[in-house]
Amino acid sequence: MAETPSAIFSAVVVTILAVLGGCSSPSEAARAFFVFGDSLVDNGNNNYLATTARADAPPYGIDTPSHRPSGRFSNGRNIPDIMSEQLGAETTLPYLSPELRGEKLLVGANFASAGIGILNDTGIQFVNIIRINRQLQYFEEYQKKLSDLIGASQAEMRVNQALVLITLGGNDFVNNYYLIPYSFRSRQFALPDYVRYLISEYYKILQRLYDLGARRVIVTGTGPLGCVPAELALRGRNGQCDSELQRAAGLFNPQLVQILNRLNSKIGSDVFVSANAFGMHMNYVANPQAFGFTTSKIACCGQGPYNGIGLCNAASNLCPDRDKYAFWDPYHPTERACRIVVSHMMTGSTEFMNPMNLSTILSVDAASDAAAAAARVRARVRTPSVDWWRETSMTATSPVTLAFLVYFPIFQPFPSPVKALVFYTHERKE
Ligand SMILES: *[C@@H]1O[C@H](CO)[C@@H](O)[C@H](O)[C@H]1NC(C)=O
Ligand SMILES: *[C@@H]1O[C@H](CO)[C@@H](O)[C@H](O)[C@H]1NC(C)=O
Repeated sequence: MAETPSAIFSAVVVTILAVLGGCSSPSEAARAFFVFGDSLVDNGNNNYLATTARADAPPYGIDTPSHRPSGRFSNGRNIPDIMSEQLGAETTLPYLSPELRGEKLLVGANFASAGIGILNDTGIQFVNIIRINRQLQYFEEYQKKLSDLIGASQAEMRVNQALVLITLGGNDFVNNYYLIPYSFRSRQFALPDYVRYLISEYYKILQRLYDLGARRVIVTGTGPLGCVPAELALRGRNGQCDSELQRAAGLFNPQLVQILNRLNSKIGSDVFVSANAFGMHMNYVANPQAFGFTTSKIACCGQGPYNGIGLCNAASNLCPDRDKYAFWDPYHPTERACRIVVSHMMTGSTEFMNPMNLSTILSVDAASDAAAAAARVRARVRTPSVDWWRETSMTATSPVTLAFLVYFPIFQPFPSPVKALVFYTHERKE
């Protein structure tokens, strides 16, 4: 191998830091995670708001260790929680939580708010919710707090290296266009035109997310909207998925994939990754027994046909075994169904995750972050700065640094630090 002396020196520095960096806390080692969107991914922001879109009363959260509700629309963990598990990170705190300060900021943040959509007028019946533009403003505000904690360049890097999830669009149909017969939007637009309008607004939102520093964004399309217990009860015939809502999802999802491709080619990099939520959910909805569910039509918690009417609350029917149900409440999957979805995200083929799945993203990004860290160390050998120690120890557990760790003691005839010092002083004299 033909390394330059400075490359060898920096490798040694990285090696030493890798040993020291082994002591850093897990939240620091894992990449940050940011979540935007609606109730499918809200971790409890709406608890802090005067809104009817909330999940802060039993039996929500019944299968968590505390058995207490947290604001998640689930019996237990939700999709972002399970993604955090895969990152080896703590779950993200809601942005409005008073606990989100200090070191907790390093984990990331969850900006999602139940009831919101792409459009500002989606979810107006829930009154006070965090619309997507406001979520993005909060993301900016978050970045200032993070800068105060670790410095501007560190904060920018942590945001650039983060994983981002955004889940939007379902409510623009369910809680807007199809909310009531002859809704304002349905009188204004034929469905295909409405979908085109949604997509053009979504494009701006994603562009803004990129401008704010997001560089790896998983964008979920809408699920099978017509198949949720609420729609089976309200609109479906004989337990068949409602064809009109299914048609809406069928128009929306492919156009979403198109704009993600367009954004990626404009940027020149695979920043946006589309997650085929329709396919992931449809898998177990169409074939519940194959996934160990007894039903995908009846919600565990609710009332009326399919337990699909109204909200899940303390007076509702409640199933004894949540693992046997695909749907927890009239709109939201159980933790077990969420786990199926995330497993498709992790290892699914391009049919589910395009252009690549989450396990590929994690390994590709870890390698490129390590290479970038090594390059920074090289640059800093020439111009040392105060930040240097902290910056390199952040990425210390990456595979490339580990490779250095193994390589150097074995193949170098002299102890590497001695040799590096010689090269280093030699280079300095030139
Ligand atoms: C939604 O509201 C935000 C902030 O109030 C505004 O900037 C944005 O243009 C609005 N979007 C649409 C589509 O009207
Ligand atoms: C998804 O992940 C698995 C391994 O976890 C991998 O074998 C497969 O090739 C990946 N697929 C794509 C399309 O990235």
